[in-house]
Amino acid sequence: MRDGYDRWALVYDHDANPLPALEEPCVRAALGDVRGLDVVDLGCGTGRHTAWLAEAGARVTALDFSAGMLERARRKVAAATVRFLVHDLHEPLPLGDASFDAAVSGLVLEHLRDLGAFFTEVRRVLRPSGQAVVSAMHPAMFLRDSRARFTDPDTGAIETPGSVRYRCGEVVMAAVRAGFALEDVGEHAPDAAFARRYPRAERYVGWPMLLVLVLRAAAGRPAPTPAP
Ligand SMILES: C[S@@+](CC[C@H](N)C(=O)[O-])C[C@H]1O[C@@H](n2cnc3c(N)ncnc32)[C@H](O)[C@@H]1O
Repeated sequence: MRDGYDRWALVYDHDANPLPALEEPCVRAALGDVRGLDVVDLGCGTGRHTAWLAEAGARVTALDFSAGMLERARRKVAAATVRFLVHDLHEPLPLGDASFDAAVSGLVLEHLRDLGAFFTEVRRVLRPSGQAVVSAMHPAMFLRDSRARFTDPDTGAIETPGSVRYRCGEVVMAAVRAGFALEDVGEHAPDAAFARRYPRAERYVGWPMLLVLVLRAAAGRPAPTPAP
């Protein structure tokens, strides 16, 4: 999967993918004013959210396991208020407890094997009442046989870096069990005007393409995860 993302990095910002375009305004609106906040961007990719956060006045820590993605992000974001870390999100975060005001993770969830462990780590690094905004390709897209994919610029082949088929309930409950209160569960579909700008979205007009969870670190201890 990491190799796939290293190669996707070459075209990620230019492949007219409708999902980031649909996602971006939702995530920015949910985060609101980030001036002066400590924010962690988990699976930052080429730095789409990191760049905006830094420009908006946040101090950002951005993590990704793909050297190719991080190289692009570093080129894009030169701000001294950003630090990039190579990190596999399947491992505990190399970050202190309660060290961030907010966390963002854009379109990464479908690549993670253990959502419970992921959300528990996000909860751990957030300060009391910290906010997490987590977006994902909507699980309903799996019903249309869709998943993260790109066209390899060298071979022209369609590549799929590897996705886990989650259900909405599994994603939401993983967050709740990790100690988050739900502030919003956004399910977003493209409309015809959006599809004119992003033709790859045409076949999904009116179909939920995007899930955005807006979460608040709840007081108290996370609920235990039930045995499988
Ligand atoms: C679809 S891209 C999204 C990038 C960026 N968040 C955005 O929204 O533009 C998914 C990102 O997750 C990263 N990723 C996938 N699995 C990961 C893992 N186990 N640990 C760290 N990063 C991972 C990939 O390298 C890639 O940069």
